[in-house]
Amino acid sequence: MTKHKKYNAIITGLGMYFPDKVLDNAYFEKIVDTTDEWIRTRTGIVERRMLENGATSDLATKAAEDLLRSKNLSPEEIDVIIVATVTPDMFFPATACLVQENIGAKNAWGFDYSAACSGFLFAYHTGCALIESGRAKKVLVIGADKMTAITDYKNRNNCILFGDGAAVVLLEPTEDLNYGLQDSILRVDGSGREALYMKGGGSLYPSTHKTVDNNMHVIYQDGKAVFKVAVKGMADVSYEIMQKNNLNPEDIAYLVPHQANLRIIDATAERMGISKDKVMINIQKYGNTTAATIPSCLVEYYREGKIKKGDKIILSAFGAGYTWGASYLVWAID
Ligand code: COA
Repeated sequence: MTKHKKYNAIITGLGMYFPDKVLDNAYFEKIVDTTDEWIRTRTGIVERRMLENGATSDLATKAAEDLLRSKNLSPEEIDVIIVATVTPDMFFPATACLVQENIGAKNAWGFDYSAACSGFLFAYHTGCALIESGRAKKVLVIGADKMTAITDYKNRNNCILFGDGAAVVLLEPTEDLNYGLQDSILRVDGSGREALYMKGGGSLYPSTHKTVDNNMHVIYQDGKAVFKVAVKGMADVSYEIMQKNNLNPEDIAYLVPHQANLRIIDATAERMGISKDKVMINIQKYGNTTAATIPSCLVEYYREGKIKKGDKIILSAFGAGYTWGASYLVWAID
């Protein structure tokens, strides 16, 4: 804990949105050479969701509206909107601006955060820093991705993995430093940039007929390479944050891992020495929704009454970049 801090940031509200359309494993059996059994055993995924009309800002807006409704909070009270996403509606303006207008948060500023599957974790840490510094009192941290917009449905190696969704937390200050974000370890390593990326459409390869013909506007992933570094990266950093904060496995109420592959999640829990009932999982329902996985787990488990005040929780993620890290927080609301 930083000694000079006056405030900690606590999560005081939650919301989420997943579109209705379900893509189950049987759907993929029809469009690529795969089986329900292969997908379940190699990834843990059974279904994912697809937004048929609209964009990432629509997912994010609906999640934010769910939070505002459930908190009975006026949008005018929001100071900052951070949207973690790799599928912004467009390069600019930022998705945060679109969400601001949609929800009527007329006193807010905001920005988008690009850290792929670690997006929510990095954005959460950043939002907490704004609260801790006293520069903001109410920060919305949204993880939202329309992954189906950049998924190649001819590539069986990764089309089965991704889905659409959004989830959000509200951060507010507390003077009781025993609650809220206690510590984070965050890392980036650009040497992983060609193992998981979208090749075209940026300033390196602006969109042309050639980039379209070369299929450069979809997710490219070297699954095997990413799997290896993700297992090590997520397990190591989750273990490291436990050690750094003198936490034993029995102290931890929940691990909230990024939901990319159940085998990566299992390896992380095993390294931390925590049992499976302490691991939040919703990958079977939604697949990999990139920035939305961690907050959507928090929303679902909270709404099911499974998280209680004082619970010690570790968030942990790994994603494109590479980006990875872990945060340790103490849950502050009943
Ligand atoms: N259905 C059936 N077979 C498939 C398949 C599918 N959907 N996708 C791949 N295969 C095949 C491969 O072609 C390969 O066949 P081969 O041995 O004849 O070449 C075989 O299954 C094994 O492929 P491999 O890539 O080794 O599988 P895997 O066990 O590594 O699982 C992933 C593939 C993509 C599920 C896994 O590598 C993964 O989860 N990677 C990391 C994902 C991730 O964490 N992303 C980043 C964080 S966001």
